[in-house]
Amino acid sequence: VAIRDYRPEDAQDLAALYVRSVRELGARDYSPEQIEVWAGLAPSAERLDALMADGRIRLVFAGSRNEPLGFADLEPDGHIHFLYCAPEAASTGAAGALLDEAERRACSAGVSRLYVEASERAKGLFLKHGYTVQERRDFEVNGVPIHNWAMEKRL
Ligand SMILES: CC(C)(COP(=O)(O)OP(=O)(O)OC[C@H]1O[C@@H](n2cnc3c(N)ncnc32)[C@H](O)[C@@H]1OP(=O)(O)O)[C@@H](O)C(=O)NCCC(=O)NCCS
Repeated sequence: VAIRDYRPEDAQDLAALYVRSVRELGARDYSPEQIEVWAGLAPSAERLDALMADGRIRLVFAGSRNEPLGFADLEPDGHIHFLYCAPEAASTGAAGALLDEAERRACSAGVSRLYVEASERAKGLFLKHGYTVQERRDFEVNGVPIHNWAMEKRL
């Protein structure tokens, strides 16, 4: 499994991957208006690189040419902020492999609880990996109502 650490050269690709992922994979469960406000939350390459440099665990799923096909992070308190895969890598096990690796790293770091605000599509993946739903979160982004799911897993 080609999971490697994030490198600053990935920032541009990952910022673009975020938007492609939301537009193409998110559209199954969210309206066009919701997709656009979500895509608008995409960090710039500079912002993403700064976030990735703050001490969190940063995982990239890379293809045969080392190109990023997905990425995930793990903050020191067990929060997963990012889990995004490229449309061409959807349903290939890439996202599951990223989650498994994040869990291994969390165990090594002594983290006892993983938690996430999961999109509708990600919810199924997290359920499969043993997370439980705490609550549905309804909120607005730029005036557009949208929802996700607070989920957690005790390690
Ligand atoms: C969320 C994301 C990373 C998931 O990756 P994916 O490859 O599309 O995942 P899938 O939807 O194929 O589901 C993965 C697995 O969960 C399983 N699953 C889906 N719904 C399920 C459910 N309700 N219960 C149990 N398992 C379920 C699928 O069967 C699949 O299993 P498999 O890999 O053995 O076939 C990806 O869709 C993505 O990047 N989406 C856009 C951005 C996003 O939503 N990010 C998450 C922010 S929290």
